[in-house]
Amino acid sequence: MEWTPDPRELADLELLLSGAFEPLTGFLGHDDLHAVHERGTLADGTRWPAAVTLHLPADVSPGDEVTLLDPEGLALAALTVTAREPDGLTSGPVKGLSAPEHGPFARLRRTPAEVKDELGGRPALAVTMRGPLDDLSEIVGTAQDLGAVIMLLPLSYGEAGPAVVRAALRAKEKLPADTIVVSVPLAPRDEPEIDLELREHVATAYGAAEHLAGPDPVHIPGPPHRRGLVVFFTGLSGSGKSTIARGLRDTLLELGTRTVTYLDGDVVRHLLSKGLTFSKADRDLNIRRIGFVAAETARHGGLAICAPIAPYAGTREEVREMVESVGADFLLVHVATPLEECERRDRKGLYAKARAGLIPEFTGISDPYEEPDDADLVIDTTHISVEAAVSRVLDTLKGGGWIR
Ligand code: ADX
Repeated sequence: MEWTPDPRELADLELLLSGAFEPLTGFLGHDDLHAVHERGTLADGTRWPAAVTLHLPADVSPGDEVTLLDPEGLALAALTVTAREPDGLTSGPVKGLSAPEHGPFARLRRTPAEVKDELGGRPALAVTMRGPLDDLSEIVGTAQDLGAVIMLLPLSYGEAGPAVVRAALRAKEKLPADTIVVSVPLAPRDEPEIDLELREHVATAYGAAEHLAGPDPVHIPGPPHRRGLVVFFTGLSGSGKSTIARGLRDTLLELGTRTVTYLDGDVVRHLLSKGLTFSKADRDLNIRRIGFVAAETARHGGLAICAPIAPYAGTREEVREMVESVGADFLLVHVATPLEECERRDRKGLYAKARAGLIPEFTGISDPYEEPDDADLVIDTTHISVEAAVSRVLDTLKGGGWIR
């Protein structure tokens, strides 16, 4: 079978294949993970600090071969399954099929063997970086004491990856001419000691005699009015979501300080989600598509307004994570007009049809709506005007500094 691992797993796969994770040759199983957590070793006692895992939802058995694909479908590796746990944890050795060649600074992603070859036996001082280096003199001094070549290893996993590589290239200009820069897509580990030990392992694999960890990056988010923002309305059909969302869009366009991408539920279903039904699976897919477009907008500092029913809490949470993972902000507005009021208005006549059994799986009637418990703003439109409702959203945006 074929499977596309998630970005973190793909990053680990690349390091397994390049030899940067030696002595590992594959994804860890239950026994090794247990030993890693308990003792910082593999099951056989070899020193190894961190979990390197793969989760496969599909059923596979020991001996099966799984082709691991990159998101574009290129076959990266063959995994021979040794075990699969009920939670999906799948272990086994991996064999490279083709080298991952794309991505920013791909030319700087070299294997340990290539780098050791270039070192030709000279000792090296590795500096792993997740942000800019603040003190080059310490590095230069240590390298001189050791008589070592300096090897900068920007850890280029994730959104900040290219910036970290640029920081390494900038530092190289101020360092001795034989300084080496190698981009290593090592995903961070939650616990600092484990992360540090793993960085040491990788540095050693690249032939380093000594390792220095660069300072932790200071994350300074831009001001809110420059950051991306997704305003996500959720609520029953006929609750007033679209009306408030449109009013918000128009007001923002009148103010003129931010561009707006508008993703109304009914509008999205004419093109982006055309053909999808109202089954749980299709509704989830619809919301993920909306979330994807909204997050892409927000990635570039844009403002997206979404107004689907989005009845499921888990899917709304996924969208929040998608948006926050690109460094943008997510604001959930629950348009909490009660069902009785939506049904009383019944502007599209859909509730009557749903009651008559003509529309199956109708939200609020014959399909669930999971009330948010994480809304940033709750608006019940029963007794307030559209203008008042839009004002409440605008006040929230002003209060948070998203508009000035
Ligand atoms: S969602 O559940 O996937 O978020 P979405 O917002 O795209 O729903 O579409 C909801 C709109 O589709 C409603 O405003 C209504 O006009 C129409 N609609 C048609 N069938 C249904 C249904 N079974 N449940 C809810 N809305 C429906």
